[in-house]
Amino acid sequence: MPIGISLEREERLLTIRKAKLGDVPDLHRLINYYAGERIMLPRTLTDLYENVWEFTVAEEEGKLAGCGALKLYSQEIAEIRSLCVDAALKSKGIGREVMECLLAEAEGFGLKTVFALTVAPTFFEKLGFREVPRERFPTKVWRDCLRCDRYASCNEKGVTLDLADRPAHLPDSATETAEVSS
Ligand SMILES: CC(C)(COP(=O)(O)OP(=O)(O)OC[C@H]1O[C@@H](n2cnc3c(N)ncnc32)[C@H](O)[C@@H]1OP(=O)(O)O)[C@@H](O)C(=O)NCCC(=O)NCCS
Repeated sequence: MPIGISLEREERLLTIRKAKLGDVPDLHRLINYYAGERIMLPRTLTDLYENVWEFTVAEEEGKLAGCGALKLYSQEIAEIRSLCVDAALKSKGIGREVMECLLAEAEGFGLKTVFALTVAPTFFEKLGFREVPRERFPTKVWRDCLRCDRYASCNEKGVTLDLADRPAHLPDSATETAEVSS
């Protein structure tokens, strides 16, 4: 399971690591920015403190650049939640790097399947996910969707990835110049 990875990107250092307690205020701000745009579900500070260990973050120049969480449902299945990148830093590969760490973490747990409900299914499809009806994940629907005021008009798509189908991840020699683990 990856603990930390640092990448030099356009002479700026991007670090992908597990979240720390001190990240919670910034996680709260970032996630709730997109909740305000009605793209993601909001998270409370209490919820984030309770579940901070689920999060992987991207940090650039000491600032939170992106995040994503792996929520375990069973020995086989987990959900990718609260995946987002600072609006000013989108489309620079940060979302993909966070996802690669979350998927490696899922593999490390011995999970078989990860899924997400998302307004950005194409992003997930680029990482090997395929679209499925969200009813495939009744626990998620029961736990979160039925409590959501947008349930009836929800535009999120279900996407899923069988980890056994995931191609071996080869490092991109152009960008992965340093790897740090502790
Ligand atoms: C979706 C999100 C996490 C992607 O992160 P990112 O750093 O911008 O994406 P990347 O630069 O790593 O993109 C990886 C690939 O996905 C594509 N992609 C990124 N966002 C996309 C989107 N919204 N729709 C379709 N394709 C997208 C990129 O073009 C890129 O394709 P390429 O490899 O062919 O060049 C980010 O845009 C975001 O925070 N969006 C708002 C919140 C959100 O929608 N979260 C989704 C989970 S609920």
